[in-house]
Amino acid sequence: MLWQPEIPAHYRTRSDEELARAISARRKQLGNKLLILGHHYQQDQVIAHADLIGDSLQLSRMAAKEAKARGSQFILFCGVHFMAETADILTDESVQVILPDLSAGCSMADMAAYEDALTAWEEIEKAHAQGKDKVRVIPITYVNSSAAVKAFVGEHQGACCTSSNAKHVLKWAFDGGDTKLAKGERVQVIFMPDQHLGRNTSRDLGLKSEIDAQRDGGASDMALWNPKKPMGGLDASVIQKSKVLLWAGHCSVHKLFRPEHVEDARAENPNVKVLVHPECCQEVVELADLVGSTEFIIQQITNAPKGSDWVVGTEVHLVNRLAQAAAARDVRVLMLSDCQCLCTTMYRIDQSHMLWCLDQLAEGRVVNQISVHPKAAELARKALEKMLQLAPATGPAPITVD
Ligand code: 13P
Ligand code: SF4
Repeated sequence: MLWQPEIPAHYRTRSDEELARAISARRKQLGNKLLILGHHYQQDQVIAHADLIGDSLQLSRMAAKEAKARGSQFILFCGVHFMAETADILTDESVQVILPDLSAGCSMADMAAYEDALTAWEEIEKAHAQGKDKVRVIPITYVNSSAAVKAFVGEHQGACCTSSNAKHVLKWAFDGGDTKLAKGERVQVIFMPDQHLGRNTSRDLGLKSEIDAQRDGGASDMALWNPKKPMGGLDASVIQKSKVLLWAGHCSVHKLFRPEHVEDARAENPNVKVLVHPECCQEVVELADLVGSTEFIIQQITNAPKGSDWVVGTEVHLVNRLAQAAAARDVRVLMLSDCQCLCTTMYRIDQSHMLWCLDQLAEGRVVNQISVHPKAAELARKALEKMLQLAPATGPAPITVD
């Protein structure tokens, strides 16, 4: 995580209304030069100032297209560090991307260090060299990863994915990626850094997880790669035969949802629909009615029939906003758990830091610029462009629940 120097005290002592007025005035002054992007998990006061709001996939697309279309020079990115890096990679050199608070990182992205990815690659190659099969290893990284990890993936002919298009990207990888498979050759995917998205999506494509294998016996198609242990903590034979190696990372917000929360919600209201994000663990996903990305969740609630009841397993700010809008349509939406599933790093972005950045900008100073090294950006762009190419134009693909 980066360190955010303290901003002058007067930004923290002004009222919310004063800050909102000052931000609006700066936006007016900067006009089209400034584009404010906001992720759906941001707090309401921040979202109120966003020109465009989206999930990770939409924000990647918006950064690539909108800054150009509007002739913007600055993107104030109200999201987390990896999203600002992605925006920097996908925009022209003339566009400067600003993260209002540098300490807004992502604990999941931090679970996959570039050096650990390099070590894993070497160790996996070594294990396959000892085996009999011809295996093509394709790295896939969730966009919730550092630019360096994305560059590693781009360099090894892999792709990024988001929760909206993980299924399409995994299918592409299992088919061999961009190069036809040779006779007798098979694919192994190393999926970073979110084990849950990797496991849930692979299961949706018909593969058996370690959890399934433990329950009903038989061989697992997947194995968990622990980057803190030599050889990921796995025997060479397990590495050789697995179809998917799942990096042992997770989202600290979505991991808070547990199967008992689903059971409790159903016990309280047997008619309730359970809708969760695929960053939740397999045991929760299995019990849910519907599973899909942020955008999928929004679509389901927005189109929910009058009188229906929902519990939603994702970040609290989004759920609260959805619940408020849905109540006006006589649709009841509650959090899946009362554990206050808050993304604390997204929450660091607030009006005080936004205004501080905009005041500096108005005086010709760019603070908190997120800039990816050109060499890393070139390789990471390959992985991101592949993701954008494979993303369905028709909307998010849900995970099928049995
Ligand atoms: P999506 O925006 O892809 O649904 O991801 C959710 C998330 O955790 C963002 O950090
Ligand atoms: Fe990272 Fe989870 Fe927060 Fe998303 S919700 S930014 S994955 S910690």
